[in-house]
Amino acid sequence: MVNWSRGPETAECAAVVRAAIEQRHLDEDVQSVVFHDMDLLSQRFDALRSAFPVSTLHAVAIKANPLVEVLKHVVGRGAGLEAASIEEVEIALAAGCDPSRIVFDSPAKTAAEICRALDLGVMINADNVAELRRLADLRRADHRSVIGVRVNPMVGVGRIATTSVAGTDSKFGIPLDRARAELPALLEEMPWITALHVHVGSQGCSLDQLLDSAVAIEALRVQLNGGLGTDRIDVVDLGGGLPSVYTSTDDVIAPDEYANALRRLVPSWFDGTVRLVTEFGRVLQAHCGWAVSRVEYVKRIGDARLAVVHLGADLLLRAVYRPEDWSHRLASLDASGEVPTGDPIPWTVGGPLCFAGDIIGRDVPLVDVRAGSLVLIRDIGAYTMSMWSRHCSRGLPLVLGHAATSSGSDLSVIRRAESPGDVAAFWSVDGGRGASGPGEDH
Ligand SMILES: Cc1ncc(COP(=O)(O)O)c(C=O)c1O
Repeated sequence: MVNWSRGPETAECAAVVRAAIEQRHLDEDVQSVVFHDMDLLSQRFDALRSAFPVSTLHAVAIKANPLVEVLKHVVGRGAGLEAASIEEVEIALAAGCDPSRIVFDSPAKTAAEICRALDLGVMINADNVAELRRLADLRRADHRSVIGVRVNPMVGVGRIATTSVAGTDSKFGIPLDRARAELPALLEEMPWITALHVHVGSQGCSLDQLLDSAVAIEALRVQLNGGLGTDRIDVVDLGGGLPSVYTSTDDVIAPDEYANALRRLVPSWFDGTVRLVTEFGRVLQAHCGWAVSRVEYVKRIGDARLAVVHLGADLLLRAVYRPEDWSHRLASLDASGEVPTGDPIPWTVGGPLCFAGDIIGRDVPLVDVRAGSLVLIRDIGAYTMSMWSRHCSRGLPLVLGHAATSSGSDLSVIRRAESPGDVAAFWSVDGGRGASGPGEDH
């Protein structure tokens, strides 16, 4: 049974940290290391697959975690990839994904990007009628891309407004009422449209919203096919949106619970009539990622104890700006990766960036925090590295994948750390790619 509510516990992370120290990935001068649990990722992806019909294309959302080695891992287990930009299409290709298993979803696709996607044969979900007209101009009869239309299912806003996209004022898709009215004529005009796409939001959406969206899109599909007198619309892309658990009040919705509810409500999605596409990101990745960051200083601020670490709003942008909506479980480890014993006391954990709000935890009960020890930050596998901020120009930390072996942990480098020279090169005229400039030495 896959645990959908938590990732690796402190003791498990500590054992991996000790292996990283032994292999010299975490010498005393290393500030932070990010880890990704490849076993948990495999288990979650396999469980997702077994919950849905075998023909389902599970296009894992790259925006949740674009690290190519992480994407290769799921592609190797049968995943496709969902790309929110043409750059993510290139990332998908770099991860070895077959173009026919890439879904291109940007709401701002240029003509050139559409041509590239058509030439590759990736699935394209058009966001709006103007984009459909652009597609009509650009596509040729020999293009193989599956073309879908994004519909806003209008099931309302979830707990977090900024990550909800099915409200009346959403910037995405064709609103359901307009889709009902306008798509029949458009489908007559554009016989190459064969798919419908919905996405409700990412985190904070309820199971009821996801199911209402499914019922709405299936009713639309039946209406459209009825009007056409065919079964042409035979692909339904459900989007992503299954929540992850960050706090004890977050909902756990296991993919099999979602799939079972869908099977009851929309049987035609499970009997071979329709080919399903999913675009999950967060529910697969969030718990797989965790990090350790070294405590550089401890100080007293009024009555509070502050520990200054090396990861802050650069990695945990949302948690820092909207702590009421996003949080990450913190714990302490000593410098050798052991779990300290003793009574916890409340700590404020501050990041390294030069603004007052760069705080990743307040009043967090932590044991024996001191300069040189480590703070463990959990549940950072989704929408963290992909939102890395260049504010204060700190380098990306080393990312290691870990997988269990009979004798301990197998560690692999997923992405090497950026050096100060790499970052200086990033900000230079040619981004460090040219023959001269600060990147040359690195
Ligand atoms: C169109 C689309 N599909 C899929 C996703 C992935 O959502 P999640 O990571 O919540 O599963 C997103 C995220 O915002 C999205 O915009």
